[in-house]
Amino acid sequence: METAEIRRRWLEFFEQKDHAVVPSASLLSDDPTLLFTVAGMVPFIPYFTGQQTPPWRRATSVQKCVRTLDIEEVGKTTRHGTFFQMNGNFSFGDYFKSEAIAYAWEFVTGSQQEGCLGFDPDSIWVTVLDGDDEAARIWQQEVGLPPERIQRRGLADNYWHTGVAGPGGPCSEIYVDRGPEHGQEGGPAVDEDRYLEIWNLVFMQEELTEVRSKTDFDVAGELPKKNIDTGMGLERVAYLLQGVDNLYEIDEIYPVIEAAEELSGRRYGAQEGDDVRFRVVADHVRTALMLINDGVTPGNEGRGYVLRRLLRRAVRSMRLLGVTEPALPRLLPVSRDVMAKSYPELVSGWSRISQIAYAEEEAFRRTLSAGTSILDAAVRQARESGRAQLAGDQAFTLHDTYGFPIDLTLEMAAENGLTVDEGGFRRLMAEQRERAKADARAKKSRHGDTSVYRQVADALGRQVEFTGYDEVASEGRVAGLLLDGTVVPTAQAGQEIELVLDRTPFYAEGGGQLPDGGTVRLAGGAVVEVYDVQSPITGLIVHRARVLSGEVGTGEQAHGEVDVARRRSISRAHTATHMVHKAIREALGDTATQAGSENAPGRFRFDFNATQALPPSVMRDVEARVNALLMDDLPVRAEVMSQQQAREAGAMALFGEKYGDQVRVVSVGEWAHELCGGTHARRSGQLGLVKLLGESSIGSGVRRVEALVGTDAYDFLAREHAIVGQLSEVLKARPEELPERIDGILSRLKEAEREIAAARQQQVLGAAATLAQQTRDVAGVSLLTHDAGDGVGGDDLRHLVTDLRARLGAERPAVVAVTGAAKGRPVVVVATNETARAAGLKAGSLVKVAAGVLGGGGGGKDDLAQGGGQDPSRTSEALAAVEHAVAETAGGR
Ligand code: ALA
Repeated sequence: METAEIRRRWLEFFEQKDHAVVPSASLLSDDPTLLFTVAGMVPFIPYFTGQQTPPWRRATSVQKCVRTLDIEEVGKTTRHGTFFQMNGNFSFGDYFKSEAIAYAWEFVTGSQQEGCLGFDPDSIWVTVLDGDDEAARIWQQEVGLPPERIQRRGLADNYWHTGVAGPGGPCSEIYVDRGPEHGQEGGPAVDEDRYLEIWNLVFMQEELTEVRSKTDFDVAGELPKKNIDTGMGLERVAYLLQGVDNLYEIDEIYPVIEAAEELSGRRYGAQEGDDVRFRVVADHVRTALMLINDGVTPGNEGRGYVLRRLLRRAVRSMRLLGVTEPALPRLLPVSRDVMAKSYPELVSGWSRISQIAYAEEEAFRRTLSAGTSILDAAVRQARESGRAQLAGDQAFTLHDTYGFPIDLTLEMAAENGLTVDEGGFRRLMAEQRERAKADARAKKSRHGDTSVYRQVADALGRQVEFTGYDEVASEGRVAGLLLDGTVVPTAQAGQEIELVLDRTPFYAEGGGQLPDGGTVRLAGGAVVEVYDVQSPITGLIVHRARVLSGEVGTGEQAHGEVDVARRRSISRAHTATHMVHKAIREALGDTATQAGSENAPGRFRFDFNATQALPPSVMRDVEARVNALLMDDLPVRAEVMSQQQAREAGAMALFGEKYGDQVRVVSVGEWAHELCGGTHARRSGQLGLVKLLGESSIGSGVRRVEALVGTDAYDFLAREHAIVGQLSEVLKARPEELPERIDGILSRLKEAEREIAAARQQQVLGAAATLAQQTRDVAGVSLLTHDAGDGVGGDDLRHLVTDLRARLGAERPAVVAVTGAAKGRPVVVVATNETARAAGLKAGSLVKVAAGVLGGGGGGKDDLAQGGGQDPSRTSEALAAVEHAVAETAGGR
């Protein structure tokens, strides 16, 4: 049975049982504490916790998920995939254990003719949480499962939560026995390979405040309602029903393995080491495809880093399969074709997706070639010093600095007949991991502990009402007050507080827009200055503020006033960002999607995906286009609409949303439509002026444009105008003549510098005749040493020594050594004639002696060599050392 068919049956089954069919949400979860959507229930968390009222009491979905905790396990077991799809059915305070179990049993064991999966009832085992007698009873009495196939297990196996604070509950898991050829008898408690888990039924009934591990967490109490959350692994069911051996061989994944076989000329199934690589490639290519589709771009932290790691692991695995040419252009389209059956947007977004993926492969190929030359040098070094092993720290540096993976280092070292000190490498890795863990712990306690905010949100019982789209001042009530992260009833003048109002006009930082500032006046007379506004959990707006005077009390009436000048200035910048975004897309095409932005008072920056720099002519066109549209004074309006309508309007930035959600679309005239929750100018004319300052790269495939808006743009241009005026005056030229005038001055300056250099050289050489008379005899060698002093650099010195050497003739061995100094650093040049060289006096070695004294190094040929150092006060000492060396070499003949 095709994966797409299982998915279809699932949705139909639950639709018939009155469940609303909800399309998959984005892989990028809304929840700030989760990197990715890790389960089907993630988009519904606010419904389980009671923060939001669900629009339906029953729902079903097939949710895209990514879990990357076990990334190293991919390909080695039959069950770990980084991207997978979770079939889920959900009850929000509607049905509970009995119905959930009955539905599951019917869908798993019902016949295929009737639209179910048709598993043999005798192959089914289940587990329940130790102590959950109710679930065990239902399985036994209502379903009729024999008691020996109902196993009781502890928290580690039969309690489910997301890994962070939020909802959780006991669960019951359903397993399929794959038969004795897959392992031991005894049920899932004994062997989880033979007995494969396909479906987890979670009885979602508790609220967890802190989660320290799978089994160590704090339960704050019961959730407002008893809910059901279930998850069936779509890929696992597919691999059982398709009769293949593991998850990588199903219809949605295996074609990539076949393409990799073709590309590498190796066969899947021939050798275990290669097989793991084939599976890694197939898994990671698919996950990368789906992540980029949802708007992730490769980067060095967070989601971007996960994507980068996946792409690199895929490319590297192809290398280990012997493929050195770019692999993604061959593999990614294959994955797209099989996945597009369920995700047609892969086709419409293809040019953006493929560009991002291919650019990352190119960047990694460059890293690999840099790493390869470092590795080659390490191999040479090891050979020269007679070692048969590369040191652990060399492997670690390759890994850490050049992103060069250890198995590649091992393999390439082996090709050179060397081993690697893996123990040393792993010790260094472990140390680094410890550091990273400590870091993550520190980060978690700073930002991850949202429980105190949840407490305030729960007390309020609904979302904070944001009035700031229509008003800059609003009446509200103090719904919560925090001092040093703790809820307090009152706060006094001088204290730094976090203040929650039930209604507020203050915009919380988000969507690239900086927060509002302003003042809150309390009914009791207190005045509070707001300097930051954040939304640490969905639906809550927290003002970071200082109490200027009086006492603030919870429950008090409050009048919030936004700093209007700042707000307007930020809003103008935000509208300008949309216009620049649209104009850049007009110029470069739709692949130039937004990768980030910051809208600040009077200025903004806008990051977008592009593989090449924006040429100056395009920058000028974009700027001209935007400014022309300012004069058209287009109306700017915001409308809430369905995603379908937004798509039809051609709205930009349309990913990362939850399907089915209403979206807010901001339009500038009929020209630019963009999904956005921010605040904006009312008409484009209010922007006044937009000035682009420059464009640069901020990482692989991402460019940044910075710009000024309104008064700030005007001030900038006025300042530049004043500078041009001053230049004109000083240079006595009209502004348009300035470039030519400055060019002329620069070339005359260069010419003058050349003349000065020639004159100085003349001077130095003019002294040569006198200097030649200072030649001394040292052990039969004509030796001439001289310190030319400060301001005489290498070029002058080389001329001087060759001139002097000529004056000393060829008959007797002659050595000339001269020092000088340029920019505070000493220089030494040595020349020898042929007779001296025949006597073993080499300029290169003599220069090394001198440079050693000067605290540096040098080298060159036997006849002429140059060196330098750090300490210009030691030039006479350096010359004395040369004399000594000459005496030794010549005297020792
Ligand atoms: N949320 C549950 C899981 O992911 C169903 O296993």
